[in-house]
Amino acid sequence: MKYQDIYNQSIQQPEAFWRKMAEELHWQAFPKQILDAERPPFYKWFADGKINICQNALDRHVDQGRGDQPALIYDSPVTNTQRTWTFTQLRDETAKLAGALAANGITKGDRVIIYMPMIPQAVMAMLACARLGAIHSVVFGGFAAEQLATRLDDAQAKLVLTASCGIEPQRIVEYKPLLDKAISLCKHKPAKCIVLQRPQHPAKLEPQRDLDWEEACAEARPADCAVLNATDELFILYTSGTTGFPKGVVHDIGGYAVALKWTMTNLYDAQPGDVYWAASDVGWIVGHSYIVYGPLLHGCTTIVYEGKPVGTPDAGAFWRVISQHKVKVLFTAPTALRAIKKEDPQGKLTANYDLSAFKSLFLAGERCDPDTLKWAEERLQVPTIDHWWQTETGWAITGLPTGIEAKPIKHGSAGVPMVGYDVGIFNHAHKQVAAGELGAIAVKLPLPPGTFPNLWRNEKRYLQALEIIDGYYMTGDAGYKDKEDYVYVMSRTDDIINVAGHRLSTGQMEEILTSHQDVAEAAVFGVNDEIKGQVPLGLVIKNANSQLEDKRLTEELIQLMRDKLGPVAAFKSVAAVARLPKTRSGKILRAVMRKVANAEDWDMPATIDDPAIMDEIAGALTQLGYPR
Ligand code: COA
Ligand code: AMP
Repeated sequence: MKYQDIYNQSIQQPEAFWRKMAEELHWQAFPKQILDAERPPFYKWFADGKINICQNALDRHVDQGRGDQPALIYDSPVTNTQRTWTFTQLRDETAKLAGALAANGITKGDRVIIYMPMIPQAVMAMLACARLGAIHSVVFGGFAAEQLATRLDDAQAKLVLTASCGIEPQRIVEYKPLLDKAISLCKHKPAKCIVLQRPQHPAKLEPQRDLDWEEACAEARPADCAVLNATDELFILYTSGTTGFPKGVVHDIGGYAVALKWTMTNLYDAQPGDVYWAASDVGWIVGHSYIVYGPLLHGCTTIVYEGKPVGTPDAGAFWRVISQHKVKVLFTAPTALRAIKKEDPQGKLTANYDLSAFKSLFLAGERCDPDTLKWAEERLQVPTIDHWWQTETGWAITGLPTGIEAKPIKHGSAGVPMVGYDVGIFNHAHKQVAAGELGAIAVKLPLPPGTFPNLWRNEKRYLQALEIIDGYYMTGDAGYKDKEDYVYVMSRTDDIINVAGHRLSTGQMEEILTSHQDVAEAAVFGVNDEIKGQVPLGLVIKNANSQLEDKRLTEELIQLMRDKLGPVAAFKSVAAVARLPKTRSGKILRAVMRKVANAEDWDMPATIDDPAIMDEIAGALTQLGYPR
């Protein structure tokens, strides 16, 4: 069958479609009811099914004779280490770790925070939680202690799994002091922390609270897979929303497992035994779905890469990994390709490696500019496919289903809707627009399995995202569809920006700037960046009584952002101005400032209260080096 028939079936007969897909997995009790639509929009997929995702990702393969196949390859140029775990080894170590968690009081439904670098134990940590039915919440290592504290409190985590340090090319990131600070800041203190001591920088443990990872595992009895409801929560992943407070996106077990399994064959064209590499981080949704769960559910070998696209040691790093481990599918963010392209514009380093096993490159995390896509296609000679998704959806909303048919690649488009996603483009009057017209992108409810069934203990905020247009989920992205239903995702409709594929809220950054005692008001917006796609730029108005010099203030604000949000924000440009452009009703006109900084065409907004301010803003931007 071709894509269009399969897609139509998924929309017209969703229950029959997903029942068949569910048969690909091992169920402790196969669901009788495929979709429970009793309480819209709180749809439940596979509501009465019972399933354990860790069993499906590890034990199932061992039981079916794949035990000696590599499950995980750890490739760490920053520590000069390479090591492989077979499915049997990964299952055994995961079961031991799950036993250690159980011995420390963790049972089904408890929350466990995972704050770890890109090492295999981070994958084992997630799977060990899943084995017991504990809900994991991974926090990206590039976030500051305060962000970790917010998540510890919101999730009311009982235990933290961490490592003594992470290794960035230029420095060692000591995780333990960050964790200690976060615990001192949070109200709900975790009872225990299990710390993996890395030789590069072992940490001092708190005697009552902290346990050594290896000792805890050595003493533990391996834990079995718990019997779990398909609708039990698998994880919470916090992401930037439209308020300063991160959104606790939840994914449940059954739907997520079924959907990811479908994508491995049909979207990525991967077969059991193939090597699949998502060059992302376990702290992001791409890492959850395609470093951990997707490849392992499908019996593929996954790669945990602790390095960067450039500088570890050079711009040939990705090609080295592909050739050495015979990677068939690579999934990365366009920002990584832009970084490689900048250092090796001709792609000469590809010639040093045998890329014959490499069959396709998938990109996501941000819009891929057609130039970068073309560059990759020409240098690598494989289909290069932009696909669009979000933390909320857990897997691609649009893409090109390479396992079904080779649909043409259209540069600038993120492909066609994946199964179960009925995508519409809406105007301000909430009416669907014609092909080619820009609008807000929404997906008809119910969303397919694997997407977020709720937000963590915040139904109200969940409903806000779903109730703007009756019966649709507003994605927060804007774009258009062409006549062949290819979707072009162009921008966000809210204050979220995308920095090196990382999703960040400018509203949250403004809150951090105004928390400085000398700042009265702040505006943050994303400006174009050659490598990272966007970076944040801040303009602040000082308090009338401030005695602080502008230079000192900007240094303090850059440090404040690092301390409160983290280095991942890449916040390096901020200036003090006397006034900010506003509408007569007092709304800050961020969009027009962004256009000036990006040297885009702009018109003086009709609603601006004083047009002269724009000259002052242009002056401040010039001082910061914008436009570039
Ligand atoms: N733990 C601690 N700190 C981290 C970190 C981690 N896991 N990851 C990044 N950081 C820090 C970096 O050290 C850097 O700090 P610095 O300001 O002291 O230099 C800062 O956060 C920004 O890091 P990064 O975004 O990695 O920028 P970079 O300039 O070091 O590298 C790229 C640029 C393009 C190579 C890099 O951003 C990259 O590899 N991006 C791919 C992103 C990606 O895969 N996204 C996933 C979405 S699918
Ligand atoms: P995250 O939840 O961190 O995965 O970020 C999701 C957001 O990243 C989306 O809502 C988009 O704004 C953006 N995004 C991800 N993939 C793409 C893509 N292929 N094209 C355009 N934008 C994308």
